[in-house]
Amino acid sequence: MQGFAINSERLLARLQHFAAIGGTEKGGVNRQALTALDREARRLLAKLARERGFVVFQDPIANLFIRREGKNPDLPPLLIGSHLDSQPAGGKFDGALGTLAAFEVLETLEDQEIATERAVEVVAFTNEEGCRFAPGCMGSLAFAEAAIPDSWRDLKATDGAGFAEELAATLDSLPEAQPRPLGFPVSAYLEVHIEQGPSLEHQGIPIGVVTGIQGTRWLDVVVTGQTAHAGTTALAYRRDPMLTVSQALAELYASIMPGDAEARFTVGRISCLPGAVNAIPDTVRLTVDLRHPSTAVLDINENLIRKTFETHANVQGCGTAVTRIFDMAPAQFPEPLLATLQEAASDCGFATAHLLSGAFHDALFLNRVAPSAMIFVPCRDGLSHNEAEHVEPDHCIAGCQVLGAAVLRLATA
Ligand code: GLV
Ligand code: MN
Ligand code: MN
Ligand code: MN
Repeated sequence: MQGFAINSERLLARLQHFAAIGGTEKGGVNRQALTALDREARRLLAKLARERGFVVFQDPIANLFIRREGKNPDLPPLLIGSHLDSQPAGGKFDGALGTLAAFEVLETLEDQEIATERAVEVVAFTNEEGCRFAPGCMGSLAFAEAAIPDSWRDLKATDGAGFAEELAATLDSLPEAQPRPLGFPVSAYLEVHIEQGPSLEHQGIPIGVVTGIQGTRWLDVVVTGQTAHAGTTALAYRRDPMLTVSQALAELYASIMPGDAEARFTVGRISCLPGAVNAIPDTVRLTVDLRHPSTAVLDINENLIRKTFETHANVQGCGTAVTRIFDMAPAQFPEPLLATLQEAASDCGFATAHLLSGAFHDALFLNRVAPSAMIFVPCRDGLSHNEAEHVEPDHCIAGCQVLGAAVLRLATA
């Protein structure tokens, strides 16, 4: 058994240290993308990196890279990492574990003076979550496309902040980082992440080898009617978008998930204008998060959603506009890299299970430009995107060790 002897105490202390940046009263983290707190976490990571003599880079979307040079600087680097931004009521481990485990691997290589053939780089991708500025995975998407879509420039955050200004402030907050172009060649990308579901915990298995990621679509739905007096307007005279939305949602909740155990349908944000207690609204706006391993089923469900809103809106004299704001086709990670992860887990003596990711991750976009794969570790009750999210210290350590063993196999050969 070869294994990879990390400094476990250092990794666990780092996780606590970063969890304090944006730490909430309920023990979670609110460190949303491109906020002052996100910048603080990025600055801390960059400072730790410079203290170890690593070089820090930043690309135009503010992806942060930390490079430990290899024997052959001309080879494309092996990239390892995740993200540092969180959900508004997020946990300590979603993203942070993968980023800090990757940094721990880099420090262990340095501690043990292990020379690698190619450089190894840690990355913290920008705005993976997509909850403050949609879409998610902005950093990895821009990296894979080697461009920042024009449509992002005018985005406004849920808190009113502008994307362009927040991105500029984030870039400026690390003046010592060297500039990097978007989308340079990498040999492979590996990401450690918490499972965010219950399967590994139920099976009592510490390491998941992630075979791929299911597809995600985000829709922006706007239903418009006519605002009118709540006390005087009889049913026959109402054009009430809230009625349309309630009836359409009731139908969709009753059909999409009950009819297909693999389907996911979530309405996580809804707003209503003008927002008076005693006025029928004229606008109801909501988001839909739709997921499935099959693109064909995503198409069917998206069409069903469009048709259902339209049908109810027509009955009530309302209008609808459904816009797709995010489309992530399902990804399948390459077999040879999955085999490497499997061997790395064996090197460390851990049992593994193969599983498909229900959550999206930066690895999905990286997989479009370089072989990519992920290592999952269990989380308590499968709970994530929740302040109570918890990962056992032994599982954080296990994920980091397997990542390190995989890096040895990929970067020293
Ligand atoms: C992001 O983390 C998601 O899968 O929603
Ligand atoms: Mn994540
Ligand atoms: Mn997340
Ligand atoms: Mn995610």
